[in-house]
Amino acid sequence: MEVPQSVGELTETLRQGGYLADRGLATALFVALSLDRPVLLEGEVGVGKTEVAKVMASVFGRRLIRLQCYEGIDTNQALYEWDYARQMLHIRALSERQVADADAVDKLFGPKFLLERPLLEAVRAGDQAVLLIDEIDRADDEFEAFLLEVLSDFQISIPEIGTIKAESAPLVVLTSNRTRELHDALKRRCLYHWIDYPNAEREVEIVLIRQPGVPAALARKVVSAVHRLRELDLAKPPGVAETIDWARTLDFLGESDLDVDNAQATLGAVVKDRDDLEVVRDNLQEITSGA
Ligand SMILES: Nc1ncnc2c1ncn2[C@@H]1O[C@H](COP(=O)(O)OP(=O)(O)OP(=O)(O)O)[C@@H](O)[C@H]1O
Ligand SMILES: [Mg+2]
Repeated sequence: MEVPQSVGELTETLRQGGYLADRGLATALFVALSLDRPVLLEGEVGVGKTEVAKVMASVFGRRLIRLQCYEGIDTNQALYEWDYARQMLHIRALSERQVADADAVDKLFGPKFLLERPLLEAVRAGDQAVLLIDEIDRADDEFEAFLLEVLSDFQISIPEIGTIKAESAPLVVLTSNRTRELHDALKRRCLYHWIDYPNAEREVEIVLIRQPGVPAALARKVVSAVHRLRELDLAKPPGVAETIDWARTLDFLGESDLDVDNAQATLGAVVKDRDDLEVVRDNLQEITSGA
C-alpha cells in the first residue's frame, strides 16, 4: 500500500485495521513514514504501543520485524550470528584436503552461514518492513548506544562480509514503559509521542472495534468502572487491554450489565495484583455504580 497522503487518511487506514489512533499519534506516524524518522512511543502499560506497530505493518502490507528488548540483550541477538551448528556440519563433510584450502574456510563465514537477527533483517527489508523495537527501556545503556548508531545510518558492517546498507528505511517504532529514562541522544533522533489512556468515549469505541459482539451498553459500563479503577492508587492500573478483556469475559458469560456480583466474579480479567484486589473489593459498590 502507498504511503498515506494525509494524517486523516492514515487515521482512517488504521481504523480499518482495527486501531483507533488519536490525532497526535497519527501525526507522529504520518511524519515518521514520510520523513523516515523513527518514532518513540511511551505510555502506561496496555495502551496500544506495541499494537500500533503491528497494525501499521498489517495495513501497509509490510513485514513486521520485532526486536524484543530485555536485560542483557546484546548485539548478537539483535544483528546477526554465525550458524555455528551448520558450520560444524559443513566442516565435517569436507575432506581433509578441502579443509586445508583457505577458500573453504572463508566460505564458512559467508552469507550461507549467517543467521539474520532483527536489525539486519530490517536493513535488508528496507521500506518493506516495520521494525518494532519493543520495550527498549529494558535493555541496558550500551545497547541503547549501539541502537542509536544503527538507527542513524541504517548500515551494518560484518567484518567477514562487508557493509550492508539499507536501500530505503523501514518504519521504526520504539516503545518504552519508562522503567528508566532513555538517553537524550536517542530521543533526539526520534519523534516522540506519549500515549495516554483514552477518554471514556474513545475507550468504548476501542472495545467495540476489537470485540464487535459486545453490547455497547455493557462496554460503557465496563469502561466507566475501569476509569474508576484507574483513579484508585493501584500498583497495576488496568490498561485498554484489560478493559477489552473484561468486557469480553462478561459478554462471554452472558452478562449484559455490570454489577457487584458479576464484577466480583470476573475481577481476574482486570485486576492482576493481590493487594490491588483487596483495595478493589472494598470499593466494588462504587466502582460498578454506573456512569
Ligand atoms: N487505540 C487502540 N485501538 C485499538 N486497540 C487498542 C488501542 N489501544 C489498545 N488497544 C488494545 O489493547 C491491547 C494492548 O495493547 P498493547 O499490547 O499494544 O499495549 P502496550 O502499550 O504495548 O502495553 P505494554 O506496555 O504492556 O507492552 C491491544 O491488543 C489492542 O487490542
Ligand atoms: Mg507492548
